[in-house]
Amino acid sequence: MKILHNYNLKRYNSFGLNVKTDHFIDVSSVNELRKVLLDNEFRTNKKFILGGGSNVLFVNDYKGLVIKNSIPGIEIISEDDSSAIVEAGAGVVWDELVQFCIDRNLGGIENLSLIPGSTGAAPIQNIGAYGQELKDTFIELKGIFTESGEDKIFNKFECNFSYRNSIFKGELKNKFIVTSIKLKLNKNPHLNTSYKQLGEQLLNQGINNPTLGDVRQTVIKIRKQKLPDPNVIGNAGSFFKNPIVAKEKYLILKKSFPEMINYQIDDNHIKIAAGWLIENCGWKGKRNGNVGTYLNHALVIVNYGDATGDEILDFEMHIKQAVEFKFGIRLENEVNIIN
Ligand code: FAD
Ligand code: EPU
Repeated sequence: MKILHNYNLKRYNSFGLNVKTDHFIDVSSVNELRKVLLDNEFRTNKKFILGGGSNVLFVNDYKGLVIKNSIPGIEIISEDDSSAIVEAGAGVVWDELVQFCIDRNLGGIENLSLIPGSTGAAPIQNIGAYGQELKDTFIELKGIFTESGEDKIFNKFECNFSYRNSIFKGELKNKFIVTSIKLKLNKNPHLNTSYKQLGEQLLNQGINNPTLGDVRQTVIKIRKQKLPDPNVIGNAGSFFKNPIVAKEKYLILKKSFPEMINYQIDDNHIKIAAGWLIENCGWKGKRNGNVGTYLNHALVIVNYGDATGDEILDFEMHIKQAVEFKFGIRLENEVNIIN
């Protein structure tokens, strides 16, 4: 294991921010990880666990130890006539796991194609897209507590998943490191093409009975049209979550903004498209120096050049103020802000 000091993280964060960490180590096994956590040299260091860096904003240089999780391996650990349990190491690139499952006609995560990042980070915010969420196929995960080095298995219930959230973003934030996850995939997949844009694109392509591969390719196509490629322009996907408001509040807003895009969550709650709110405050494609919102999608903040974390935070604060002033809704960050 090689420990690097005063190490530049520019290529380890999809915003492409030019920040450094005091210490950096790449671990590729559970034993290596445990050794680092219990090492006397780093015991008192602040620690941050990094996957693909596609949902983080480093505000400044990191004063501590960044542990890059590269634990590999994908394996079908059991199967019957209808399903298969797949276990994957936290360092596996998420989209490689999706491809692995589709290649074996295992359904359940095809709508999550091309989400950047690692498998170990997928449970942290319960990744979701185009009508699927990680929790729909999730069985359990294994990991280690950062302080004690103790192992624990969390089942689905214990993970406390909800929209872009889990126990690992709440009470266990930065306290637990995922080392592997188990998913249950379906051998007779029931495809979910209910997401408006996905269903429409499939029909436009003349596909009436899509395969898993068709869904994957169509999701990839939509994503490429809509979202910026971090290799070309720095970003971390949606910067904010779509706000969920009480139905009464929504009904009041609807009187003034009848075209506001919304989704019914339950009898009492409505989710509103944050991209629509931001666009309707005049912030779509707006740019201030190195920072802006993406031309095709107001929910994505982009780094046009040498932006700093502070510049991005300043920009996102102005978006929040504009949305709150016009709609009375306070946006919540999806991206993890690292100080
Ligand atoms: P990182 O950014 O490295 O880390 C994110 C957080 O998870 C950090 O707090 C980190 O400490 C923690 N973490 C990472 N690995 C572990 C681990 N092994 N154990 C414990 N904690 C860990 N997300 C969606 O849900 N849906 C989308 O459609 C989507 N689209 C995106 C599109 C683009 C262009 C981009 C750039 C991002 C998008 N995202 C989306 C966000 C991002 O891809 C996901 O949040 C992804 O799961 C982050 O993975 P990562 O490995 O890059 O995590
Ligand atoms: N919209 C606008 N203006 C915009 C952007 C969007 O009016 O500038 C409207 C769209 O026309 C559409 C609605 O808002 O009617 C929703 O847009 P979209 O389908 O692009 O989805 P989203 O709600 O903006 C969410 C996730 C994405 C995920 C997509 C697809 C969140 C915060 N974001 O975006 O996840 O890929 O749905 O399921 O929930 C991410 O988390 O980083 C991410 C990219």
